Amino acid sequence: MKKGFIIAIDGPAASGKSTTAQLLAEKLGYVYIDTGAMYRACALKAKKMGIDINDEESIRELLDDIDIRIENHNSKNRIFLDGEDVSEDIRADDISALASAISAIPAVRYKMVELQRKMGEKGGVILDGRDIGTFVFPTAEVKFFLTASPEVRAKRRWLELQQKGINKDFSEVLADLVKRDNNDSQRALAPLKKADDAIEVDTSNITIEEQTDYLYQIIRSRMEEECKSS
Ligand code: DC
Repeated sequence: MKKGFIIAIDGPAASGKSTTAQLLAEKLGYVYIDTGAMYRACALKAKKMGIDINDEESIRELLDDIDIRIENHNSKNRIFLDGEDVSEDIRADDISALASAISAIPAVRYKMVELQRKMGEKGGVILDGRDIGTFVFPTAEVKFFLTASPEVRAKRRWLELQQKGINKDFSEVLADLVKRDNNDSQRALAPLKKADDAIEVDTSNITIEEQTDYLYQIIRSRMEEECKSS
């Protein structure tokens, strides 16, 4: 029996997906699944093993015994790689670019998508990523595509880095972000793309609370429609 809707939130880096998804999961009593964290965990494993991201054969071998687990604690995800909590390590700046590169390898995507489908198939879940509405769960009940201008998104990322005590030039943060979006939207398999039936929300000039509330109202009205029709 289904436990509820499957809700997909896609969009480019730093568009506010994960914060919104976490807040919505809390409000709805749903499970949040951060799919980007899974690609980050793959990239971290390759880095730890000293494997070149372009060495597809070694990456495929690495997938044979990789163990990626997501635990939910108050709607926040903890990510475990081969039994070790790597939730902080996967947020390192270099891992962002490595995750984008490794996510273009078809074998990596098929493995991660298989795990994501297993985690989400019963419903009652909110997944955020790049291809949730187009590829992982094309029949998700509600799909959103969050956007914001590259400058606004780079500013968010720059502030995050500052808070961690990392001083990086704004122009470098912006360049990295644009490069990553290009990689993610130009790869052959399941690129970053708005699903035809996704609701696009530009978050450039609204607060996290406003965007969460807006998405929440849409989800509630879809749920009411579903109740009436069943
Ligand atoms: O959401 P994030 O920044 O943590 O994601 C890191 C990288 O993982 C992103 O640049 C592309 C990849 N990714 C993906 O290809 N598909 C997803 N569903 C989620 C992330």
